[in-house]
Amino acid sequence: MSEFSSEWLDLREPADARARSAEIANAVAARFALRDELHILDLASGTGANLRATASLLPKKQVWKLVDHDADALDAARKRLIGWADASEIDNETLRLEKDGRDLTVTFSIADLASETNRLLDAPWQLVTASAFFDLASQDYIRALSKAVAARKAAFYAALTYNGMRQWVPHRPADNQMTAAFHRHQMRDKGVGVAAGPMAVAHIADQFRLHGYTVLEGDSAWRLERSDRMLIEELVRGHAVAVSEIGGVDDKTLLDWVKVPRTGAFVGHTDTFAVPGS
Ligand SMILES: C[S@@+](CC[C@H](N)C(=O)[O-])C[C@H]1O[C@@H](n2cnc3c(N)ncnc32)[C@H](O)[C@@H]1O
Repeated sequence: MSEFSSEWLDLREPADARARSAEIANAVAARFALRDELHILDLASGTGANLRATASLLPKKQVWKLVDHDADALDAARKRLIGWADASEIDNETLRLEKDGRDLTVTFSIADLASETNRLLDAPWQLVTASAFFDLASQDYIRALSKAVAARKAAFYAALTYNGMRQWVPHRPADNQMTAAFHRHQMRDKGVGVAAGPMAVAHIADQFRLHGYTVLEGDSAWRLERSDRMLIEELVRGHAVAVSEIGGVDDKTLLDWVKVPRTGAFVGHTDTFAVPGS
């Protein structure tokens, strides 16, 4: 499975949904509870998991734009959303969905966020959101995005940003060396500048506070157990591939590390909800 393949996103979606912070979800729902309609921009949407996890928190009528640079992921999103909805209708490029009494209008945009975010923001979005994305983006990107979101007085919801905490069960002495190498790999340029990696969470909060936003943060760690065996195995494999690419861990240590049967894993994530001051 490649880093952002639809198979990988499918595998992680149930763990992501389970991990989301209920406290932050409640704050999102409360913020928009008195509205009838909301316009939402979902950055780096992949196959649409963020919409599926967030729609139930939002008003009865929702207008979504899903953006990703991967056309295959957006095709998969269209299919997954049709399968998820109670009823669906395709009108040219627009998908109309009914789900649990809500009406969703969804459009899709193939775009490179590194160069096209400002253009995409140029619409009356009331909520800008993303899941599992900002650790891939640079600090400059987060700074510019927060400024642009604040200029529009939109709310901001970043779910499942990796925060650098990682533990394996059982623990092995090489785990720390592997995690350090993994973070060096993570903080390379992933297409949106040199990735902020584990620093992204703090940077998001700092930037939105600078713009006078109130920022709430909640824990959304994966706490994986034996029943998550496939996800744990894929995590170990992805970890090893990243470390072998970046180097700094000798081959024997790496091979021995991969062979350890893991029965659990903790992967730290943070959910952030930021709203403009009055
Ligand atoms: C870890 S996935 C998260 C996908 C989805 N939000 C989810 O929670 O399942 C990261 C997504 O970012 C997208 N992405 C990465 N760099 C991008 C860029 N420069 N422009 C647009 N999308 C990008 C990838 O294609 C991928 O779908």
